[in-house]
Amino acid sequence: MKSLFIRALSKEPVERPPVWMMRQAGRYMKEYRDLKEKHSFLELCKTPELALEVTMQPIRFLDPDAAILFADILLPGEAMGFELDFAPGPKILNPVQNRSDLQALKRVDPHTSLDYVFKAIMLIKSELASHYQGEQAKAVIGFAGAPWTMACYFTEQGPIKLFQGTQVKAADDPQTMHLFLERLTDVIGDYLLGQIESGADAVQLFDTWAGNLSVEEYREFALPYTQKIIQLVQKTGCPTILYVNGSSHLLEQMKQSGADCLSVDWRTDLHAAETLVGEKTALQGNYNPANLFGSVDSVRERTRKMLASLKRRTAYVANLGHGIFQTTPPENARVFVDTVKEGWINR
Ligand code: CP3
Repeated sequence: MKSLFIRALSKEPVERPPVWMMRQAGRYMKEYRDLKEKHSFLELCKTPELALEVTMQPIRFLDPDAAILFADILLPGEAMGFELDFAPGPKILNPVQNRSDLQALKRVDPHTSLDYVFKAIMLIKSELASHYQGEQAKAVIGFAGAPWTMACYFTEQGPIKLFQGTQVKAADDPQTMHLFLERLTDVIGDYLLGQIESGADAVQLFDTWAGNLSVEEYREFALPYTQKIIQLVQKTGCPTILYVNGSSHLLEQMKQSGADCLSVDWRTDLHAAETLVGEKTALQGNYNPANLFGSVDSVRERTRKMLASLKRRTAYVANLGHGIFQTTPPENARVFVDTVKEGWINR
């Protein structure tokens, strides 16, 4: 039987919206901080048993409808030859400066250099299957960074300020930027196929920083690469979710990506978005993570307001509009999930 999450993405009838939270595993949870005392972030990502444990921590605490693999969008970059440091914000020690840096990048076979991710997915899949069946089944979400957002991290010298440096490079030498985006597209496509083979039930492409682009720039530097990856993934039948932060001006173009579901933030009006994208495209979002602070009552009320803004009764996944803050009271995160589970709310 398909999980509630997959049924909603497939636009099949659902009794309530499915729910999960971006960055549901991480530093707002004590169990995560305890593990971080003993292991570095990269160790957690690269040890499948530890990645399984961190993935499961919010499942046990929040009981959401999907588990997102514990990993990071920058890991495939390491396989390409970038040196990563998380302190805890990401820093790339050898960003791409020119065309010869591109030539020095390694060819990536994800089945060797990113095998730890695939092993983690297999473990997560079997752990979930042994605990949650039938109506309770939970989906496993695989993910990757979209080419533009990956290029942002891997071309910046820092300090990172809205990735202006990447935009300057794109304007200055678009050909080199396109060559880099093509390389990233190939790596990300293979990487996602590997995740799907390992058991991911859906995949989310994070194009966090594409919201900095104008419509025209998005069409040039983001959309064609995102489209290519989505087409590749869709051949497997696996549903795709496309997340862009600050994307109110890009919804029309994001829809052209062909993604099954568009994940939007709180600056986008959900009802306006559902009108614009139509019934065939699912939506995900869009609770402001800053509004997980404050009283339990205010979280409940704002969550209900989010649900009440929707007309549709499927093709929607409740989520935050961006990752949960590390100082969020864990209880409030649970109130968010529990409130969604109470069901649809009439407008
Ligand atoms: O959602 C989940 O629970 C799954 C795990 C996950 C992480 N990063 C763990 C992580 C996912 C899906 C990501 C995606 C990711 N990583 C994105 C796209 C989503 C977004 O938030 O926009 C981006 C841009 C990154 C790059 C990245 N990695 C950043 C900006 C940071 C610093 C974040 C911070 O809170 O300081 C990281 C590190 C990182 N990735 C942490 C975690 C739990 C914190 C590392 C630590 O514990 O010290």
